[in-house]
Amino acid sequence: MHLYEPFRYLYDSVHLNLGIKRAIARLSSKIQQFVDEQVMFFFYTKMERYITTRIISHYGADYRWGDEKSQNINKTTNNLGYGLIHHALIRNLRPKRLLCIGSMYGFIPYMMAKACSENGMGHVDFVDAGFDVNNKKNTDNHFFGQGFWAKTDSKKHFSYYLKKGYISVYMMTSRQFYKKHGNSYDYVYLDGDHSFIGAKQDIDMFWPGLSNGGILAIHDIHFDFKKSLENVNEEFIRSAGTVKFEMDKVWKLFNTTRYKLDVTNGYSGLGIIQKIGKK
Ligand SMILES: C[S@@+](CC[C@H](N)C(=O)[O-])C[C@H]1O[C@@H](n2cnc3c(N)ncnc32)[C@H](O)[C@@H]1O
Repeated sequence: MHLYEPFRYLYDSVHLNLGIKRAIARLSSKIQQFVDEQVMFFFYTKMERYITTRIISHYGADYRWGDEKSQNINKTTNNLGYGLIHHALIRNLRPKRLLCIGSMYGFIPYMMAKACSENGMGHVDFVDAGFDVNNKKNTDNHFFGQGFWAKTDSKKHFSYYLKKGYISVYMMTSRQFYKKHGNSYDYVYLDGDHSFIGAKQDIDMFWPGLSNGGILAIHDIHFDFKKSLENVNEEFIRSAGTVKFEMDKVWKLFNTTRYKLDVTNGYSGLGIIQKIGKK
């Protein structure tokens, strides 16, 4: 007989056949239902909402300027958008070696590492060059990075709502990382250099090492940079420098690839490819 655990002892200690056991079982079921629906679910929903809000804020899922479209999040409905797609894929496929290139404040690498920690396996190598939109040397390669990783204690940053040991941070370019650490991965996410030449170089480096059944995910495959500048002020346009957002062209390289999915949101878009076989 299934019993709500606090009632188990009481149930087991009754031996008289006066219908007491049946009454305890009925009461047990009613109380369990009440606790689950009125207490646990209530607090679970509140906690989930609270923690989601804190994660969005700490890991800058809205880039800390209220951009809910880029990562497809929605603060009102407690929605972690594209972060949830990475999380669900990693929970399902259970990759061991994961690579994330580029992030403003760590939202996607966090979601990837969180999924690994829930799986109890897998490790994320997060690589970001620490480019800064305000640094004149980065005019053509900042991709709106805020120089965050150069100013941050990344270990401390990634200790927020995350168990230790599921992520390592490398502040360097993807090319430097490749030369030092190679390219053997089961899950690769590209959100660093968005120019055609830069992103293609990332693909040329990391696609060959991706395992059979592994995932290559690419952010901004539908992003129209020109259009996105239509409603912003002159100062913002000036700060953009000469960066090129060309992930749409990069995505076209996979036109004939069979196992892929465009997750569009009418703005940025997330492309997902599963590598089947060696090519
Ligand atoms: C700001 S992100 C784009 C925003 C991103 N969609 C997000 O969700 O946070 C681009 C990042 O890529 C990094 N980056 C650009 N080129 C890179 C490269 N070749 N290797 C590593 N990181 C790079 C920049 O430092 C920047 O932080």
